Amino acid sequence: MTTAGSSAEEAAQELRIEVGDVSARPIAPDVQGDDGEQETRLRPGRLSDFVGQPQVKENLSIAMQAARLRGEPLDHVVIYGPPGLGKTTLANIIANEMGTTIRVTAGPAIERASDVASILTGLQPNDVLFIDEIHRLNRAVEEVMYSAMEDFFLSWVVGKGLSARSINLRINPFTLVGATTRYSLVSAPLRDRFGSVFRLDYYSDEDMATVVQRSSRILDIEADDEGLNEVAVRSRGTPRIANRLLRRARDYALVRADNRITGPVARESLDRLGVDARGLDETDHRLLTSIIQKFSGGPVGLDTLAASMSEDASTVMEVLEPFLLQQGFIERTPRGRMATRLAYEYLGWPWEGGNDPGRQAQLFGGTV
Ligand SMILES: Nc1ncnc2c1ncn2[C@@H]1O[C@H](COP(=O)(O)OP(=O)(O)O)[C@@H](O)[C@H]1O
Ligand SMILES: [Mg+2]
Repeated sequence: MTTAGSSAEEAAQELRIEVGDVSARPIAPDVQGDDGEQETRLRPGRLSDFVGQPQVKENLSIAMQAARLRGEPLDHVVIYGPPGLGKTTLANIIANEMGTTIRVTAGPAIERASDVASILTGLQPNDVLFIDEIHRLNRAVEEVMYSAMEDFFLSWVVGKGLSARSINLRINPFTLVGATTRYSLVSAPLRDRFGSVFRLDYYSDEDMATVVQRSSRILDIEADDEGLNEVAVRSRGTPRIANRLLRRARDYALVRADNRITGPVARESLDRLGVDARGLDETDHRLLTSIIQKFSGGPVGLDTLAASMSEDASTVMEVLEPFLLQQGFIERTPRGRMATRLAYEYLGWPWEGGNDPGRQAQLFGGTV
């Protein structure tokens, strides 16, 4: 650990795995990270342990009860929302609650029609097939899925030209649970075949506090309410981030502070990780500063913005932006991203857009 005299910057460097790599951010929501086994312990196994998202829970619970009463598999479900909010968790809960087995795969892992055929023919009656990143299924695979989902029937062509023949097979009834961060990229015919669509949203501060309390109990962490709340509000409404920050705060408490996470301990440890009071880190600051400084507050197109930060456009869109949008730091307009007044004030830049009618019109969605 750091010696007493070193700067906060050095401490942040030390605690980070690798500065500059988005996936190594302490708040990267899409990385399972180094804490695999603990992550499994923290994952709720029952719907009643799943914190927050009351509407999703209620609708899912009704659908599952009805399916059980009818003795049928649950109708296919697609779950979407930003990384780390509980999509994989819910898929596992569905299998648990339905008393079946879950088979896990992901869109990019299924390359050919024959791959999906072998997965589907291997399913036992009423199994849950979980396909993560379902928006990344290719055309040929999707086409096999249509009849499989609708009629539990497989039909695909093997070979090419004169030697081509079609294979038709009945398969066991199953529940497809699809997850995606990009619902808009799921093709219309595939979407139509799901019986329910569940959208997960960022968790409220109260729900995040419950998540953090639950995790601290499971991991047997000594902490007070102030310390746990501090972790909760800095976790950008994302349970996976909360669990990671909680462990980092625990490390810090062990080395520096009597092994107890109090308010000051949580604040200091998270400050040192570069996670600020609202959960923004250096990459978020860079994004906002970039819009404000390099593009006079916007509007700026996604690709231009991403290039200016040397980030991937899809990382900016899927990982960085959603939270900043939800928190009101940026807005999407037809002409690109804009920094809001809140962003200026939060970062301590003078807000100059207030008197410019063109800018006002853009902010409120009008045309100039
Ligand atoms: N509603 C919830 N209540 C409690 N913990 C949750 C909840 N949702 C997610 N988590 C925690 O966050 C972790 C990440 O969730 P996960 O389902 O893997 O997210 P996703 O698949 O959406 O990226 C889980 O392992 C679990 O510990
Ligand atoms: Mg997942």
